[in-house]
Amino acid sequence: MGEPPRHLLTIEGLAPPAIAHLLDLAESYVLLNRSGRTERDMLRGRTLINLFFEDSTRTRTSFELAGKRLGADVINMSVAASSVNKGETLLDTAATLNAMQCDLLVVRHAQSGAPSLLAQKVDAAVINAGDGTHEHPTQALLDALTIRRHKGDFAGLVVAICGDVAHSRVARSNIHLLVTVGATVRVVGPPTLIPAAIAGLGVTVFHDMKAGLAGADVVMMLRLQKERMARGLVPSAREYFRFWGLDAEKFAHAKPDALVMHPGPMNRGVEIDSALADDPAHSVIREQVEMGVAVRMAVLDTLARSRALSRNV
Ligand code: NCD
Repeated sequence: MGEPPRHLLTIEGLAPPAIAHLLDLAESYVLLNRSGRTERDMLRGRTLINLFFEDSTRTRTSFELAGKRLGADVINMSVAASSVNKGETLLDTAATLNAMQCDLLVVRHAQSGAPSLLAQKVDAAVINAGDGTHEHPTQALLDALTIRRHKGDFAGLVVAICGDVAHSRVARSNIHLLVTVGATVRVVGPPTLIPAAIAGLGVTVFHDMKAGLAGADVVMMLRLQKERMARGLVPSAREYFRFWGLDAEKFAHAKPDALVMHPGPMNRGVEIDSALADDPAHSVIREQVEMGVAVRMAVLDTLARSRALSRNV
């Protein structure tokens, strides 16, 4: 399988065996977490720093929990947005963290490419926890694990990713992963929120929810990311919901056993109706959060092992 990976910066470029390895390992951690047993020796003596330049609830918490379940020392650093030049700040931060002998560095940043820049400057294994509109690899892995637990094989599955694709790193990572493992991926949304180049990633574009959802096995809704948006891309929240929000009428076009997914945080009544978000027969939104901890344990474990190998300790 070539060199073990040093960082997890993107899903783009990960081969199917690497994805399968992470999902299989994560599956074993799901069972471990449910059994109440722990593996506290796995990362004993290792330091994990959560470096978040953007807000987060579930991603940061689940990296923290994952690190602690494996016995790492976890430090959370929340860096409030500032007007200071981002490049300079980042490089200064990198130098500081390097001096602290951190082993695993989890980074979220508003600028696409920031985690890979850090990866060139620090000795730690760097994990991208979301960079701008670029990628969010662990989110795609936890989504894939959730889908696999319900649907088995990915080949032939139809996954509709709906809404604000333009601003979504979740969409980009999911597209790379799902196309790589053989699923059929559709993106569905208004032309203002679907970048023209997206079809080049191997997806089919739909500008109508009913057509886009027809026969889908999985309906993945995205948050309307107003904070990343130039003005005027969407009509009022009410109109957006009417055309692009997931409600029972639109969902009826998907397969009868289709899954409803959302990475969170949700804007209820904007991109998704509460009744569907909370529908136990279809919604796996809570399960996605549970899978997040297991996937992050698998990623931390895998990178810590390859770090140990490369250092020969
Ligand atoms: C996403 C993110 O931050 O990219 N949230 C998450 O990590 N679960 C999606 C979003 O903010 O809409």
